[in-house]
Amino acid sequence: MCPKGGRASARNRSQGRFFCGIIYLMIKFTIITLFREAIEPYLQSSMMEKAVRKGLAEFDFVNLREFGLGPHRSVDDTPYGGGDGMLLRCEPVFNAIESVKAKDPSAKVIIPTPVGETWNQSLAREFAKDAHYIILCPHYEGYDERILSLVDYKISLGKYVLTGGELPALIIIDSVVRLIPGVLGGETSAEIESFSDGDNLEYPQYTRPEDFRGMKVPEVLLSGNHGEIAKWREEHSGKA
Ligand code: ADE
Repeated sequence: MCPKGGRASARNRSQGRFFCGIIYLMIKFTIITLFREAIEPYLQSSMMEKAVRKGLAEFDFVNLREFGLGPHRSVDDTPYGGGDGMLLRCEPVFNAIESVKAKDPSAKVIIPTPVGETWNQSLAREFAKDAHYIILCPHYEGYDERILSLVDYKISLGKYVLTGGELPALIIIDSVVRLIPGVLGGETSAEIESFSDGDNLEYPQYTRPEDFRGMKVPEVLLSGNHGEIAKWREEHSGKA
């Protein structure tokens, strides 16, 4: 089934992929981080690896340390006005982001932060329509506020504090890339499953055996009656 809403910006038409006669983008994520090793294994596994192999997604890394200052390539400093901890400095971050934007001025910058807009499936769907995102992964206790002048999206994963932006980056990437047509096994999988049309939760599913330790698969699912099965699934779809 052809997904709705596919479109390609003029700039990216040459990078586009055809699916059901519609041009889809290859999505690129450039991740600016001090901890590439915390992110890369996930992106080289399972569906993310498949997306890259099929030419539907591309992941690139920028080592923030390379833009650090002085002999120690420092990227952080103490806050003006006092306070605990260290903040990411402007110079390394600006230089790192500008080095990516020099090659692709249209790339959008995301910063994961607990005070950003809360990430959800609708945002993932919106993001899946664009082409190149730079994700800046802050670490330490925070960042110089002036860095936000370069940022297009402040994204929160929820009301809790993580030690850095690497986990949020992976969650954002995973939830966007799996929506690209061709990444999941069946082309409709991403459309029918949990949260795909707002706050619908997926219906319960079963596979073999029919009877596991006395826990039986509901009869209707074994009936072959597609109408009844669809009705049962609708009735058993939880509402968030
Ligand atoms: N960085 C630290 N905590 C975070 C959160 N909850 N969401 C996004 N980025 C974060």
